[in-house]
Amino acid sequence: MRYGEDHEKGIIMKPQLLDAIQQRYACREFSADRPVSADELAAVLEAGRLAPSAFGLEPWRFISVTDAAGKTALARACFDQPAAATAAAFIAIVALVDALDPDSAYVHARFEAEARGGDTAPIYEAYRAYYHPDTITPWAQGQCNFAAAHMLLQATHLGLASCPLGGFDSGLLTQALDIPPGETPALLIAFGHCAYEAPARIRKPLN
Ligand SMILES: Cc1cc2nc3c(=O)[nH]c(=O)nc-3n(C[C@H](O)[C@H](O)[C@H](O)COP(=O)(O)O)c2cc1C
Repeated sequence: MRYGEDHEKGIIMKPQLLDAIQQRYACREFSADRPVSADELAAVLEAGRLAPSAFGLEPWRFISVTDAAGKTALARACFDQPAAATAAAFIAIVALVDALDPDSAYVHARFEAEARGGDTAPIYEAYRAYYHPDTITPWAQGQCNFAAAHMLLQATHLGLASCPLGGFDSGLLTQALDIPPGETPALLIAFGHCAYEAPARIRKPLN
């Protein structure tokens, strides 16, 4: 069934989020000469911005890349995987690591916002008990995956294809994106229009 149609019942149904979830797949080759518009990228970024994060810390930064030289550098950092080499656009999700120190101005600002004008002491207490510098990097990278999931589904909703790319050389990616110390790449997402028909989904049964 397509969005907004239910021919058997003769009614117009609202698009369901599950439609986008069912239609999303990892595209490994994007069509050449089919760009992603600035408006589409903005909508995808907005979906990432609204993603949930533990303690409301939003420990991410998004970098969109659409220029030819930037895309070539990112494809190289991804070992020239076909999805990366053919992408019309990328969004890199970078994990903020050093900013997550409980005494940072960043955490202070986020907790002020999270407390909505109320007392920040309880959230600080919980976070200080939780925070450990040895585990904060993978934790921050894990948070970034929530933003990624939002972006992938929003892209599908817009009719765009996508591929999450975790297979990259972190050093090359850091260099290509000029990521400063204290931040680390979490995930790259390639976007465009897929060069082939959607493949059948492969998933374990629900039970
Ligand atoms: C965190 C993450 C990293 C991934 N990295 C890559 C990658 O480097 N290259 C690639 O071709 N696909 C990558 N994928 C896509 C997965 O292979 C794909 O989602 C999985 O095979 C299921 O297929 P589907 O997304 O089409 O349902 C990645 C997916 C996730 C969630």
